[in-house]
Amino acid sequence: MSPSTDGPRTIEDVDWDALTAAATDAMRRAYAPYSRYPVGAAALTEDGRTVTGMNIENASYGVTLCAECSLISALIASGGGRLRAFVCVDGTGAVLMPCGRCRQLLYEHRGTGMTLLTVSGLRTMDQVLPDAFGPENLA
Ligand code: THU
Repeated sequence: MSPSTDGPRTIEDVDWDALTAAATDAMRRAYAPYSRYPVGAAALTEDGRTVTGMNIENASYGVTLCAECSLISALIASGGGRLRAFVCVDGTGAVLMPCGRCRQLLYEHRGTGMTLLTVSGLRTMDQVLPDAFGPENLA
């Protein structure tokens, strides 16, 4: 059986509360001594894994890694694959919109119909980054 059949089949299968809790747990491990604005992110992969990330800042501010950067690193380190569902939260645990740069990061690794829990409710990747530049442009 293909691994991609093991994960959630429809977006209704996603336990958004559990995914948000995973993002909140990751947020608590953020390294954000400069902004004091911890962020946590969590995603489900198409094969049913949960990957998480948190922001990791640096004294050289521009070197900061957003939570989504950590999450994508975790995705690749744990075997890659495509993202199915995503949420990120701020230091209070409230849902946060991914920054523009990180929408591009997420777009690169999106699965078909990838959905994000946002401040406007559930949105597809195409809704939060319409007419995106992506790998298909380089094909
Ligand atoms: N941050 C993220 O981790 N992800 C986002 O999508 C928005 C911003 C972090 C970067 C920085 O460590 C802190 O939030 C304040 O900008």
